[in-house]
Order: sequence, then structure tokens, then C-alpha cells
Amino acid sequence: MAPVSVGLEVGTTAVKMVELVHGKKDLKVTKLARVEIQPELEDNDRKSAIVKILKNLTRDYGVNPRRVISGVGGESVVVRRILVPPMPEKELVQAVRWQAEEHLPYSLDEVYLDFQVFGRGRTKGEETSVILVGVKKETIDNHLDILKKAGIIPQMLDVNPFALFNMFEFSHPHELEDIALVEMGHSTTCLLIFEGASPFLVRNLNFGGLHISRAIAGNLGVDYSKANQLKEEHGLMTEEPQAAGVSSDIAAQISDQIKKCMRDLINEILHSLDYYSSQKGKKIKKIFISGGGAYVNNISEFLSGALGLPVERDNPFARIGYNPRRFSPDYLEKEGSFFAVGSGLALRKVAQI
Ligand SMILES: Nc1ncnc2c1ncn2[C@@H]1O[C@H](COP(=O)(O)OP(=O)(O)OP(=O)(O)O)[C@@H](O)[C@H]1O
Ligand SMILES: [Mg+2]
Repeated sequence: MAPVSVGLEVGTTAVKMVELVHGKKDLKVTKLARVEIQPELEDNDRKSAIVKILKNLTRDYGVNPRRVISGVGGESVVVRRILVPPMPEKELVQAVRWQAEEHLPYSLDEVYLDFQVFGRGRTKGEETSVILVGVKKETIDNHLDILKKAGIIPQMLDVNPFALFNMFEFSHPHELEDIALVEMGHSTTCLLIFEGASPFLVRNLNFGGLHISRAIAGNLGVDYSKANQLKEEHGLMTEEPQAAGVSSDIAAQISDQIKKCMRDLINEILHSLDYYSSQKGKKIKKIFISGGGAYVNNISEFLSGALGLPVERDNPFARIGYNPRRFSPDYLEKEGSFFAVGSGLALRKVAQI
């Protein structure tokens, strides 16, 4: 039997599950689920609600809880690319720890640390490129506790930016140079710049749909859930209100709010694009967007104008097979971006125990 793996993202708004079957020649998606987490819950109530969702999911979809790969994301996950001078393998661990102290915004006691060597210096004396990952212990411990309470002992705990990286590498094998990916969720936006087969830059930004909905709520004097609904209904307007003809005042106000809210994100992206150009001497040529934020009406057009680059919504299932009796191509195309992290998690093949 072909290996099966289940990617599980516990997002801020919803749990997303993707089951993939790793055939010899291809990959197939066999199960998909997106279950909303009641937004008003906090702390222990929220935790219990997630545990319940996970228990129901594994039962209703017949998911083998031992095939699960889950991930953590958000601000408590810090990924940095560092350069270390050439040195023997056994000295590398210590050197990376020293650099980690300098590069991570948290003390080393607070984080679980890992690193991966990408591209050892090819010529004598050339520096080695290392991707460093620090995740707050509290975040991992909490996440594992939730999974455990739901009867899930994941085979692997990944970090969401790496899941996105793997997903993109799989779905765009010929497009990994001079490309950036922006995954906008509810509380976090992950910005990734590719340097061929390794990440050049990874940033987890404290921005997402939540911040937009809050701004709309504050400005229009409506409650949060109404603001969220208005955001999803109207999104951005690309034309001037009069030119569009049908736009109401409220649509124009919402569009303005979203644009205002996105200013910092745009500046942050521009700053990272400039950094890439200054380091590599060439420019990013295209940006892909995913996550729920990719569904804001007209967001690709808006970002494209603001960044001066082509922007396209990414569908992680573009190169993954499926049974058309189970999923319509329409559904995968329409909802795919919500599963960018989940599908990337499921791409890691797990042992079939
Ligand atoms: N049609 C739409 N228009 C505007 N926003 C949308 C639309 N559909 C979904 N969203 C927004 O996308 C966000 C949810 O996206 P997603 O599921 O990727 O986030 P999440 O995984 O729950 O959050 P995070 O990854 O930050 O923990 C919400 O803010 C939601 O309002
Ligand atoms: Mg998410």
C-alpha cells in the first residue's frame, strides 16, 4: 500500500486537514477538511473546542492519528538564514548556538532550536549557509498537549514556513528562482523568498485578516463579526467608486480600510524585496499569495499595483491528483489556498506504522 500522510494545521480560525497518498509516480489528495473554530472562545475553552474538533475529524474522516504531521506557526516561530565560516561538522553546532543567541528575539532557554545546512561553501574559505529555526517551547508544548488530548501523537512536528516551502517547491519545481510567497492567514502572514532549493528569507509577520476585521469594526462602528463578514463580502475595490457605478459608500469605506491596513505589510514586503536585490544583485520577478487572505476580492490586482510585480493566487493542488468523484476541480481551485500549510505538512512522508 502506498504511504499515507495527514497534514494538520490548527489555524487561528479553523483546523485544516489534508490527507495525501504518496504513490510511486504521483501524489493524490484523498481527504480534505476545514472546520471552523468558534471565534469568540479564549484560553481553555478554545483549547477544548480544538480538541473536540480534532477528535471528530479523526473519527469522521477515518484518519489514522499516527500518520499525522502537524505544524506550528506565528510569531513564536523564527527562521533565520545565517552564514558561518568554514569549520568541522562538530564545531558547527556550537557556532550555530552562538549565532542563534544573536539572531533570535528570544533567549535560548525559551526556545527549541534546530538548524539545517544548505549549501556548504563550495570553494575553500567560503561561508556555509545555515537555516536556523527557533520555536518558543511554550508554543510547541501547548500544541502537543492539544494533539495528545485528541488522541494524536504526531509523527513529526514541523514549522509552517517549512511546510509552505515544501509545498511550493513541489508545485512549482521550475519556478523557484526570484520568487516570493505571501501566505496571509488570520493572525500571521508568512513571507518567504526562494533561493532555488533553499529559503533565502522567512518572516512571520504579526498581520492577517484579524487586523483588517478589527480596523473595519473600529472605523465603521460595527461589531467584530459583522466587520469580518463585510470584509469577506466586499473586499477591495480596484476602480474609483464612481467609475464602478454600483459601489456603495460602505464598499468604498471597507476597501479604504483594507488598503490602509495593508500599508505596513506592503512596506515590509518591499523592504524584503530590496534586501534580496541588494544581496543577490537581481530582482524578485513574481509573487504568489495563499492562505485565507488570498481570497480578499481583488487582492492580487491591488498588491500587484503596490509592489510593481505580477501577483497570482497559488493553488497548492495544481500538481496533485484527486478522484473527480470526490472533489471537483472547481472546489480545489477555489478553496486550495486555504490548504497551503496543510498540504505542505502532508508532503512529508511518514513511516507507515
Ligand atoms: N472571501 C474572503 N475575503 C476576505 N477575507 C477572507 C475571505 N475568505 C477568508 N478570509 C479571511 O481569511 C482568514 C482565514 O484564513 P486562514 O484559514 O488561512 O487563517 P488561519 O490559518 O485560521 O490563521 P493563522 O494561519 O494566522 O493562524 C480570515 O481572516 C478570513 O476572514
Ligand atoms: Mg494558517
